[in-house]
Amino acid sequence: MSDVMTVGIDQMAVYVPPFKLEMGDLASVRGVDPKKFELGIGQDEMAVAPLTQDTVAMGLNAAIQLFDRADKVDQQRLDAISLVIFASETGVDHSKAGAVFLTDLLPIKQGVRSFEVKQACYGGTAGLQLATSYVHQHPEETVLVVASDNAKYGLKSGGEPTQGAGAVAMLISQDPRIAKVSDVSAYHTADVADFWRPTDQEYPLVDGPLSKKAYLDFFNDTFTSFIGLTHQTIADFTAICCHVPYTKLGEKALAPYLEECDKETAKRLRQYYQQAVRYNRVVGNIYTGSLYLSLFSLLAHEPNLAPDSEIGMFSYGSGAVGEFFSLYLSENYTQEIQKHRFEQQLTARNTLTIDEYEALFEEKIPTKAKDFVVTNDHHDPSEYQLKAINNGHRVYSNPKNR
Ligand code: HMG
Repeated sequence: MSDVMTVGIDQMAVYVPPFKLEMGDLASVRGVDPKKFELGIGQDEMAVAPLTQDTVAMGLNAAIQLFDRADKVDQQRLDAISLVIFASETGVDHSKAGAVFLTDLLPIKQGVRSFEVKQACYGGTAGLQLATSYVHQHPEETVLVVASDNAKYGLKSGGEPTQGAGAVAMLISQDPRIAKVSDVSAYHTADVADFWRPTDQEYPLVDGPLSKKAYLDFFNDTFTSFIGLTHQTIADFTAICCHVPYTKLGEKALAPYLEECDKETAKRLRQYYQQAVRYNRVVGNIYTGSLYLSLFSLLAHEPNLAPDSEIGMFSYGSGAVGEFFSLYLSENYTQEIQKHRFEQQLTARNTLTIDEYEALFEEKIPTKAKDFVVTNDHHDPSEYQLKAINNGHRVYSNPKNR
């Protein structure tokens, strides 16, 4: 292990399903002032996944984008994948890892390790940190980390306006072309009953006010520890990205610190926070991928940040685990962020009426179905789709063989 070796995010890509709901439409049908969703929660639209897009299919649709654009350097790094980590709290199987399907259906070499990690929304960060340590130990190898979730709280539930769906794929390597992961990090675990989903429950059990308090407490705890460990001040960060269950909450976490720091720093961090949540505002909560969607949003909207700019990263997963760490931007990170490709996905989405949203929300694979055909009734154009349950086994379209 060399002291000078840098490890971090070499590539990233995001997938959102092809349907969305306008928050204003949800507000009017639920008898809520639309300003509550727009300003109080800070959400404009939410992504909605059809039955063809379970978390494995969404993860595949995010990850394939890394393979599609591969030039020679990319190809070498993709060929060097020896570990696939799937992070999800809405996975498709209690036993089998979503990563196994990914390993089979993506153009990845034979003979890799693969597994799934879970700790609510913290799972994406758990995957990234594990992958970073792994590459430090195996510098010639790379790791594919895929964070994929379908955040559903139930129709007319308190959490309904904070739903969403989507996936983020990241390739972790040495000499990363997007950002290096910091060696120092501050983390904290405590048993908190703010949000959890027992194995027999379809939707999470949520104590909304406690979840907001826990998020803010964990931000304070881990941010203060990180600053203490690194002897830094908030002014050292070019930007701070947060886990985004809804865009207003990260803003609330930063607010007391921005009131205390110099005006220039406060202005910069406020401005970059807003850039960092532009995509989250129109996608909603994607649980494990939310923090990384926010990072993607920042990098897509701020293409001229200086090399080595330090980006603070706050990860929170209910239950609860929090971590604050940082990323240092690579010189040509902009070239690796496929902004146009992602925005094409956003603009191609179909806007659902409330009736369509409610009907789609209720579409389910029958419980304990051993055989079931998933028809593409909603004309999902995505490359990978769930096609059927055959003798209890999920079957996906396999465009690799096209
Ligand atoms: P609620 O009861 O619908 O809303 O719950 P509220 O009363 O808390 O209001 C929300 C904000 O809107 C408030 O602002 C209101 O003042 C404001 P705040 O006090 O927070 O600053 N408001 C208005 N603003 C402008 N005009 C108006 C207006 N009316 C009210 N007319 C809640 C909201 C988010 C709690 C609910 O949707 C929920 O339970 N969501 C799910 C849980 C959640 O997202 N928690 C966040 C922290 S936990 C977390 O991040 C982990 C998570 O991602 C899961 C995981 O880790 O796996 C969720």
